[in-house]
Amino acid sequence: MYCVQEIAPRVFWVGGSDRRLERFENMFPLPGGVSYNAYLILDEKTALFDTVDSSVADLYLENVAHVLDGRKLDYLVISHMEPDHSAVIAEILRRYPEVQVVGNQKTFQLLGQFFTPELGKNRLVVQENQELSLGESLLRFTFAPMVHWPEVIFTWEATRGILFSADAFGSFGALAGNLFADEVDITDGYLDEARRYYANIVGRYGVQVQSAMKKLAGRDIRMICPLHGLLWRKDLPCILEKYDLWSRYEPEKKGVALFYGSMYGNTENAASVLCNKLAQRGVTDMRMYDVSKTHPSYLISDAWKYSHLVFASPTYNLHLYFPMETLLQDMGVLGLKNRKVAVLGCHSWASAAAKRMEELLSAMKEMELLTPPMDIRSSLKPEGEADMDALADAIAASLSGK
Ligand code: FEO
Repeated sequence: MYCVQEIAPRVFWVGGSDRRLERFENMFPLPGGVSYNAYLILDEKTALFDTVDSSVADLYLENVAHVLDGRKLDYLVISHMEPDHSAVIAEILRRYPEVQVVGNQKTFQLLGQFFTPELGKNRLVVQENQELSLGESLLRFTFAPMVHWPEVIFTWEATRGILFSADAFGSFGALAGNLFADEVDITDGYLDEARRYYANIVGRYGVQVQSAMKKLAGRDIRMICPLHGLLWRKDLPCILEKYDLWSRYEPEKKGVALFYGSMYGNTENAASVLCNKLAQRGVTDMRMYDVSKTHPSYLISDAWKYSHLVFASPTYNLHLYFPMETLLQDMGVLGLKNRKVAVLGCHSWASAAAKRMEELLSAMKEMELLTPPMDIRSSLKPEGEADMDALADAIAASLSGK
């Protein structure tokens, strides 16, 4: 049966959630599932905002038919061509052959690439800031290239102050009846998932997010409707502030996240000793992760959150231990910058890890190495404690701003 909600007068949520999918983009774990949001406005003209992933296609099609209740579909606005939102376009066009497809030049280029050049020939190719009246509802299209693909369009519905924001302001996590952020406790894990989504999916495009947010400055925005996760209404300042911080690569929190790789526990022990010494210096709320155990997307999320990052890893086959290499490469590709960092290597006969970690961090922007890399031979010994104290002192002093 259809499952829809009227989220504002004559504006309906017609999406669906998938709790079965293991990994988003076949990479990122989804312990809480994911939602594919889509919206439908009923006015003198009707406009559908995006389709959904194929996994929820049947429900979505039933939702759209239910809300339309026999009315003609006038417009299909395509905010984003990634297949988790575009998978059902061909079926919508088959069911509603008179619909006009709204997008920009790049939208239609991608539409032809994913489907066929003939698909959706009844087109409205919009320009930046072009307006489209549906009756009382007035749409204005704002291009948001690379948030998260080049064709992305935000649509602002001026009468109700609704922003249809494509992937921006979205999150992992299926929806459970409560569609709005103000209807759930977002501090109970949701904001962490929103950050994990942002950092891993959109994180590389901070400059473009900033530019899109500048374009929206001064608009009357009373509701944000993303393509994934909760909708924002009363908590708008919360998500806008987070997006501003995340996209400027500013840490949310002064604190330490330590990432270690360890084959037999010796590097882990050194990492534990360091955290212990930091705790004794008054550092609180530290995070410590085994890079072989925890999926990199969670590590990336905490790297986005914390101001001070410590990387501890052994040498492996004269290279950096691969899970650590993966994490640092990932951070580099995502463009993380502006962190205080420390490096702790471990080796038994040839040292490569400490140098490689330093090299990878140096290639990122605004990464301040707090001390020269420390390098341990096989295992930490009491005679190495002074060096560990010096490292802990440097991190603690930096955290307290000394
Ligand atoms: Fe949810 Fe970039 O697609």
